[in-house]
Amino acid sequence: MRHPLVMGNWKLNGNKRMVNDLISALRNKLSNVVGCNIAIAPPVIYLDLAKYHLGNSRIALGAQNVDIHISGAYTGEVSTQMLKDIGAKYIIIGHSERRAYHKESNELIAEKFAVLKEAELIPVLCIGESKAENEAGKTEAVCAHQIDVVLNKLDAKAFESALIAYEPIWAIGTGKAATPVQAQAVHKFIRSHIAKYDAAIAERVIIQYGGSVNADNAVELFTQPDIDGALVGGASLNADTFSVIVKAAAEAKQT
Ligand code: 13P
Repeated sequence: MRHPLVMGNWKLNGNKRMVNDLISALRNKLSNVVGCNIAIAPPVIYLDLAKYHLGNSRIALGAQNVDIHISGAYTGEVSTQMLKDIGAKYIIIGHSERRAYHKESNELIAEKFAVLKEAELIPVLCIGESKAENEAGKTEAVCAHQIDVVLNKLDAKAFESALIAYEPIWAIGTGKAATPVQAQAVHKFIRSHIAKYDAAIAERVIIQYGGSVNADNAVELFTQPDIDGALVGGASLNADTFSVIVKAAAEAKQT
């Protein structure tokens, strides 16, 4: 059985006090949760502090991005080795905000995937279509292409220890999540697409949903068979809400 992962993507939010307060609240609220892996991805400047506050809790540390270079004259970048050094485990790549604002291509994202695997870190590969692509019926083609660029560079075995986060761009930060039925259909498609390369890997790969997940829609999303947790933006900044979402995933996947 697949173990869901609920991961908070804090994006460009937080300060030292919030790192302290939010993590200590999460540690309290989530100490007894079993059956769901949990991670948070604070801004890079707070990773070390977050790791300190996470201590020996079962909440893992994630990061929001990585560079493809290991060291050298790459001003402003952060390497896999640095993320490893600091104790990060799950690394988000290909987020639609980085694709849009930093012009990251599928090819660059595939390189990031490769360097993360090389460093034995776990990529969380974000994919998803825009509103226009959705309305033009191109959702499956867009998602398939975003995955194929990675599959062609590495191979299906690369997804052995990696996650996919399906995040329809039109659902991010809009309060308008995909319906459980819509999301399940795309997740099922993604799994079947990977199965064309390797059926066993497809069965095991964790496919998270992301885009306006909140305390009210979490249960319905997680009871869908191919939705294995979530990548949560805005709602991960509130300990109560994020805890409800984590518990919803743990319960949905236990039954
Ligand atoms: P929201 O949950 O704020 O819609 O953000 C989703 C997201 O982009 C997570 O990576």
